[in-house]
Amino acid sequence: MATPTTTPPQAPNTRTAIAIEPIIVAREIGKTYRSGKLEVPALRKVSFSVTPGEFVAIVGPSGSGKSTLFYILGGLTSATSGSLLIDGADFSRLSDLERTRMRRAKIGFVFQRFNLLPTLSAMGNIEIAQDIANLGKQSKQPIDRALLDHLTEILGIQGRLDHRPSELSGGEQQRVAIARALISRPAIVLADEPTGNLDTKNSDAVLDMLRRSSRELNQTVLMITHNPEAAQIADRILHMRDGQITHIESGQGAVVHEC
Ligand SMILES: Nc1ncnc2c1ncn2[C@@H]1O[C@H](COP(=O)(O)OP(=O)(O)OP(=O)(O)O)[C@@H](O)[C@H]1O
Ligand SMILES: [Mg+2]
Repeated sequence: MATPTTTPPQAPNTRTAIAIEPIIVAREIGKTYRSGKLEVPALRKVSFSVTPGEFVAIVGPSGSGKSTLFYILGGLTSATSGSLLIDGADFSRLSDLERTRMRRAKIGFVFQRFNLLPTLSAMGNIEIAQDIANLGKQSKQPIDRALLDHLTEILGIQGRLDHRPSELSGGEQQRVAIARALISRPAIVLADEPTGNLDTKNSDAVLDMLRRSSRELNQTVLMITHNPEAAQIADRILHMRDGQITHIESGQGAVVHEC
């Protein structure tokens, strides 16, 4: 006689039970640059979402729209079409001032060319990021000294904080720029080719810090890179071409070195 088949008790679906709202929801984002009569479609119907604490790498050929996407995600420019929710707020419906406030409060930028202020020391450059994050807030947050020590130690710049950018190597400047982006604990970190100009050692320090900020501090990190090894540090890799996401693959969540 056949044994009656019984359905095993279902494990509670923890994914549903603790459904996490995405921190970024992009729906059919389009961006067309206009210069005179010329129209350049830089993004076409780009849709994706990112959960808090996730690390996403964005790869694609030059001109595929990666930086444009970042400028829109960071509120530095607005999309021509589509909608963008950042932490539940619809960016396309915010005024310029509201979007600026939100950017200061929630988003840290790292650029390929560091963009440090030349007249300030490394420490001054990090401190000013906290001042900017405080702009428009009623209760000003003092700089978090424990976090500052933690960041500067991991990034290996503790002995360089009195130096101006011109007295620092490119790798040191980029490590200062990472500390500057992370000091105010932004929920989202956007890094556009952060290792583009760096040697392997400096590149590893920067990637390690970004990976930690996602894993240990639950910050959401989006990183543009041309380097396939660097992209593997991410949880997911978005591939772009001609202003569109062509496919999404899983990353390895760790730096992969070629032997
Ligand atoms: N301000 C602008 N005005 C007009 N066209 C622009 C502007 N900025 C970018 N573009 C165009 O939009 C397209 C996407 O540019 P974008 O800078 O986003 O590419 P990218 O993927 O970041 O490239 P790269 O890897 O070289 O940095 C390109 O064709 C570019 O020439
Ligand atoms: Mg770019």
